[in-house]
Amino acid sequence: MSERIDLAALPQDFLWGTATAAYQIEGAVAEDGRAPSIWDTFSHTPGKIANDDNGDVACDHYHRWREDIALMRQLGVNAYRLSVAWPRVIPGGTGAVNPKGLAFYDELVDALLAAEITPTVTLYHWDLPQALQDRGGWPERDTALAFAEYAAVVADRLGDRVKLWATLNEPSCSSWIGHLEGKMAPGWTDLTAAVRTSYHLLLGHGLATRAIRAAVPDAQVGIVNNLSTVYAATDRPEDQEAARRHDGHVNRWWLDPVHGRGFPADMREVYGVELPEQQGDLETIAAPLDWLGLNYYFPAYVADDPEGPAPRVRSVRREDVPRTGMDWEIDASGIETLLLRLTEEYGARKIYVTENGSAFPDVVRPDGSIDDPERQDYLEGHLAACASAVRKGAPLAGYFAWSLLDNFEWAYGYDKRFGLVHVDYRTQVRTIKGSGRRYADIVRVHRGQARRAA
Ligand code: IFM
Repeated sequence: MSERIDLAALPQDFLWGTATAAYQIEGAVAEDGRAPSIWDTFSHTPGKIANDDNGDVACDHYHRWREDIALMRQLGVNAYRLSVAWPRVIPGGTGAVNPKGLAFYDELVDALLAAEITPTVTLYHWDLPQALQDRGGWPERDTALAFAEYAAVVADRLGDRVKLWATLNEPSCSSWIGHLEGKMAPGWTDLTAAVRTSYHLLLGHGLATRAIRAAVPDAQVGIVNNLSTVYAATDRPEDQEAARRHDGHVNRWWLDPVHGRGFPADMREVYGVELPEQQGDLETIAAPLDWLGLNYYFPAYVADDPEGPAPRVRSVRREDVPRTGMDWEIDASGIETLLLRLTEEYGARKIYVTENGSAFPDVVRPDGSIDDPERQDYLEGHLAACASAVRKGAPLAGYFAWSLLDNFEWAYGYDKRFGLVHVDYRTQVRTIKGSGRRYADIVRVHRGQARRAA
């Protein structure tokens, strides 16, 4: 059944997981002392989200997490990537810690471990406390300092049981989509603010890495980036140059500084924004990491856009290629290319695919079942490409399917479904889809092989 995927290539202790993020699933936004985040503000601003959806209830995971762990057991996974909501733990962004907020994650971690599921904790998946936004948000250095303070609090509480830590999820989205394109919280369109945000996010990452290590000496710390394979839409030299700029914008700007290479000089020139650099920052940002997280969804084809805003690149939509319900082109070879790039160009010693998945419009049959062959095909194709990368030398240690559940897909609201498990938002009934059953089969076969080989 898994002929397409060279499962024997994967390490015996491979982590098979699913991933979620706090604001996308938890709901309970005003319960037990949680304060608003920038996503509460943004999603309650009319016109920002499809159908004016918001995360007030989402998958109600805050109350149904036991059921969700039971679903993970059914899938047979041995890992779960979750994010902690900063505004639940430190509602004001800095200062007073909310005991009930910490207790929620504490109990969740215990239950995961009891179910033999390794928790992987991401500290920042975009839900900045609104109180910090009101003080200037990520364009201000103080937000990076506040992030390290929050990281220390969470690591101190969970670090005796949680060993796998990610500082940031997809800082390029917070920076470019949130502060330059205005399509995510806080919804700004300001290049200077966006570049300053990117700088302070990476500084916060470095400071938080240090804080986690101080609290948890045996922590395995990493950062999660969403990377793309980038191609010029034509052979024109202008488009080739545009591809180089786009690669700088979405890939190198995020990878180079954490690898001690500083911020790419060509992109500094493209942005033309002075970095708010202070002595020692670059060393902090380049704090040694134990692993790199790769989120991969689609390739980018780009062309020069001389009149457009920095980085003066426009996406080119290719016709007659397979696409997901997000209108994202499907190209499984991209995940292999990126795993090998991280290995060869950046010397990665351990990589996790921290997200990979697809949205399609699911059809629920009259008997309540859901078959989703397109999502299943996407999953298999990308897993096959991961295994191929491992054969070629990529140190891939785990794969986290995005997502465990259908959930709040940011500006797209609830219309786009990425889950291996379907959620009926009216009743909160969860149903494992065909792709979830397929994932369970793959996991079972590989874990069986690994057990026999041990
Ligand atoms: O839902 C998001 C997730 O929060 C971050 N990575 C991409 C996913 C799909 O868009």
